[in-house]
Amino acid sequence: MRPADDHERALHRQAEEARQRAYVPYSDFPVGAALESEEGAVVTAGNVENASYGLTICAERSAVVRAVAEGHRRFRAVAVAGVAASVPPCGACRQVLAEFALPGMTITFPEDGVLVTYTVEEILPASFRL
Ligand code: THU
Repeated sequence: MRPADDHERALHRQAEEARQRAYVPYSDFPVGAALESEEGAVVTAGNVENASYGLTICAERSAVVRAVAEGHRRFRAVAVAGVAASVPPCGACRQVLAEFALPGMTITFPEDGVLVTYTVEEILPASFRL
């Protein structure tokens, strides 16, 4: 883990923009995610909640699904933006991100009010693989 660099901060700003479009009538906790593909394309999404709470889709997984639908399969970076001092990706999202991660993919998010960057291997050691 290290402080986010300028490129990761710029990606985080795109996640903040996507956060504005989150659908969060139940939690009022908007999250935005911005994924950067190996070609440099950026795909964003916010979390999408549901009256049946368990059907909620996190911002990170929404972004992965959107990106794959648009033809992207490998990602070198993701940034996550929320409205709290710490917005780490949940365990389910870590596993889904790992599925499409290039080795060393970076994951940037606020931790105790500081924008930090982990690698996917740091944040999810021993991820499930078939
Ligand atoms: N949420 C995300 O979008 N990403 C995460 O990694 C954790 C949680 C969302 C789900 C729900 O809409 C809200 O945050 C509160 O849990």
